[in-house]
Amino acid sequence: MRTFKFGIIGAGRLGKIHTMNLMRISGVKVKVIADPQLEAIKEWTDNLGIPKVVPDWHSVINDPEINAVVITSPTTFHAEMITAAANAGKHVFTEKPLSHDLASAKKVLALLEKTDVKVQVAFNRRFDHNYKKIRDFVASGQIGEIHLIRITARDPFLPNIEFVKKSGGIFFDFFIHEFDNIRFVTNSEVEEVYAGGSVRWDPEIKNAGDYDTAFAVLKMKCGTLCVIDSSRQAVYGYDQRMEVFGSKGRITSLNDRETNVELKNHETVTMDKPLPNFQKRYADSFNAEMQDFVRCLVENKTPLVTPKDGYKAILIAEAATRSARENRTIKIEELEDISSLLNG
Ligand SMILES: NC(=O)c1ccc[n+]([C@@H]2O[C@H](COP(=O)([O-])OP(=O)(O)OC[C@H]3O[C@@H](n4cnc5c(N)ncnc54)[C@H](O)[C@@H]3O)[C@@H](O)[C@H]2O)c1
Repeated sequence: MRTFKFGIIGAGRLGKIHTMNLMRISGVKVKVIADPQLEAIKEWTDNLGIPKVVPDWHSVINDPEINAVVITSPTTFHAEMITAAANAGKHVFTEKPLSHDLASAKKVLALLEKTDVKVQVAFNRRFDHNYKKIRDFVASGQIGEIHLIRITARDPFLPNIEFVKKSGGIFFDFFIHEFDNIRFVTNSEVEEVYAGGSVRWDPEIKNAGDYDTAFAVLKMKCGTLCVIDSSRQAVYGYDQRMEVFGSKGRITSLNDRETNVELKNHETVTMDKPLPNFQKRYADSFNAEMQDFVRCLVENKTPLVTPKDGYKAILIAEAATRSARENRTIKIEELEDISSLLNG
């Protein structure tokens, strides 16, 4: 059986998760990890027995033995790294978002559409047990025609301010999962976006030009209306809920918890809090998305989440960012002539 040699670029939170998942897949070898913070990752890479650890990502791209790269650096580097990897003929699994701005995302997409390498954008919610089931119920007509979707997405605690500065902003960094998820669940495209934001937790976030509390209202081409609300902090845990309302019923997905045990007595009703963070809540989906990517390499198939999906999510994020800034509804068409992409 063929062995696929992987290089990892960026060994922070996501780089570590994806490395561990890759190392469990037979026929895969993680040959090299690049991260400028060598000291910070030394103990971890030593324990895993990673053969090579380098500070400069270019040596991963230039290594002729590497078949595929995982890009888990801060978002500001994604476009440049994806471009270099694709030009070097490496398959790419990249963390979201594809880029932190529309112009560079467009360039990346144009390049990727001309190459033969496989590229998967890490919208892991498509591999999550709850959202997959919601999509299956919707697709099989269980609730008829969809009219409304409500999503709540709240982080358990504020991100590091340095992360915020390199994140592209809350709509590119955080809402982008939901923008993709809505396209996935409805199998329809977004037509227009109205969004807004506020800073309720940390003035540093305002200084970084971002929001920590925000909403987006989306109108889909099929007529479905979607409302997303979000906060960068929720004191009770990682809050991830969805409701889909249709002509024949509704589907709800509540928070996953350590257990479903509920205590009721004369004083109180209690149950476990939502899982504490994205690492726990989405552990299975991170594993599943990486297994699927490797399956696509082995079986020469197109990944479930393509660069075009990554680009469409960026268009929505850009629309939301502009809408919040300009306090008006933004039509996706306004951003550019995308008819050929959306029909593709
Ligand atoms: N799918 C998800 O649920 C999810 C969750 C969190 C973050 N992310 C995405 O993952 C990416 C990384 O986020 P994170 O939370 O792991 O960040 P992180 O800060 O924990 O890790 C980033 C790592 O990249 C390294 N790095 C910085 N510059 C580099 C360079 N030039 N070359 C190589 N490595 C470099 C840093 O030293 C650090 O170790 C971001 O794009 C983010 O949007 C996805």
